[in-house]
Amino acid sequence: MKFDFSDRRQLLKLAAATATTLWLPRSAWSRTARLHSDPFALGVASGAPLPDGVVLWTRLLFPEPQAREFTLRWEIAHDEAFTRIARSGQVQAVPALGHAVHAEVQGLEPDRWYFYRFMLGEAVSPVGRTRTAPAPGAEVARLRVGYASCQRWEHGYYAAWRHLHADAPDLVLFLGDYIYEYPGAQNAVRPVSGGWVLTLDDYRARYALHRSDADLQAMHAACPWLLTWDDHEVQNDYAGLHAGNGMPVLGTVPDFAARRAAAYQAWYEHMPVRASMLTQGLGGLQQRPQGAELRIHQQVAWGRLATLHLLDGRQYRDRQACLKDGGSLIDPAQCPEWAEPQRSYLGAAQERWLDDALGRSAGRWNVVGQQTLFGPRDARPGPGQRFWNDGWDGYPAARTRLLDALQRHRVSNPVFFGGDVHENWVGHVKADYSRADSAAIGVEFCGTGISSRASASGMGRAAERLAENPHFIYGEARHRGYGLAEFTPQRLRTTLRAVEDATRLDSGAYTLAQFEVHTGHTRIERV
Ligand SMILES: [Fe+2]
Repeated sequence: MKFDFSDRRQLLKLAAATATTLWLPRSAWSRTARLHSDPFALGVASGAPLPDGVVLWTRLLFPEPQAREFTLRWEIAHDEAFTRIARSGQVQAVPALGHAVHAEVQGLEPDRWYFYRFMLGEAVSPVGRTRTAPAPGAEVARLRVGYASCQRWEHGYYAAWRHLHADAPDLVLFLGDYIYEYPGAQNAVRPVSGGWVLTLDDYRARYALHRSDADLQAMHAACPWLLTWDDHEVQNDYAGLHAGNGMPVLGTVPDFAARRAAAYQAWYEHMPVRASMLTQGLGGLQQRPQGAELRIHQQVAWGRLATLHLLDGRQYRDRQACLKDGGSLIDPAQCPEWAEPQRSYLGAAQERWLDDALGRSAGRWNVVGQQTLFGPRDARPGPGQRFWNDGWDGYPAARTRLLDALQRHRVSNPVFFGGDVHENWVGHVKADYSRADSAAIGVEFCGTGISSRASASGMGRAAERLAENPHFIYGEARHRGYGLAEFTPQRLRTTLRAVEDATRLDSGAYTLAQFEVHTGHTRIERV
């Protein structure tokens, strides 16, 4: 596998073409040959909501590989019966992009719910429901966001998605580890197909496996999603173009850049995101010939109520400090590299972008959706420190720069959401974490996994770690689930929801804890 620059160029052209509405005669799509299986078995999804538009996604699936293109028709309507069509169009599904489509719909009304579907010949997709963002500057009474991460297939079922679906969020914020690249797990609840995920075909198959799940499909069909990724969408603990924890055995994948490009392409093919993510890399095509870039960091406004900032902590980061085999607990006193000021978690260009985006934000709440725990979590009780070098704790200078930006721009009510650790952590974001009396300048909710198990080492240590790191006010590692955050102009209420048993498809769910933050107060209260 070798990264091919000319293939990449072709792919970018196709991505732009397949996101655009085609103006073909109706006969072009209706002449499609009769199909012998449901091409819409992976369901539908929507995302990237704007005040006047949204992305509608599906990916055609066939029993045998198809080398030809297909033209689909899409419709978006005010009602579920599709009697009042708001917009319709046609879009192409091409084999080079796995027959995925990302129809970018425009001309919708702000702050409205819609229904949508695709048609291919006689086949009609399931109906999805989506919504637009409020108009710029609009006063918005309420925004309800479900946040979630880490849905390792072998570790459990997706009852959590079914319960979030019942909570009727406006948006899902997915914070990373949509798939895992492993060939399986010990004590697997359900098997994955295929072995190690290495090639474009492997990644496509792993995403298709996940999208075969009825609960996950239903959540995608219920509201728009905003997404970022973490490491397992490519490989455990990778950093930029460094392969990270080299499993499978190093040497079997000679070109990590090619593997990463394949993984990014498959992620694009399966997520309801804009084609511009693929075509507008930060450095542009010419400046990064060594690897395909997918620009997923973005800012999304929700009227005057909230601005959401989605960050990418994987693609542009420097290598972990004092690296052994990927992520590890390090003693900062023994690792001078750890504190080097130039080391970056987001990369210099994304840091500049974020600084600018925070400065521009007019939202009353500023939501930062990123991969992992933001505040420091010293894992060594008493004197001395041990930090996990793969998260923000491995990049202290980069964290300080973000804290400085929040203060310099007087960012209004920052709220961080994260995932990755498979544990629930709730805490205050401090101007200076090394001082106990330092002011809180924001709040943080790091969520547990949908299904991924907590590490054995973290399981019994939540109380000890809370005592050692008092900027956190709540921490627990025993539950799988999701979070629900409801924003109003006056307050944020966050509810931590846990499933009773992630190894059961029919698991119930209950509320673990609830917290409130009032605008202008930067203090989390348990309610
Ligand atoms: Fe994870």
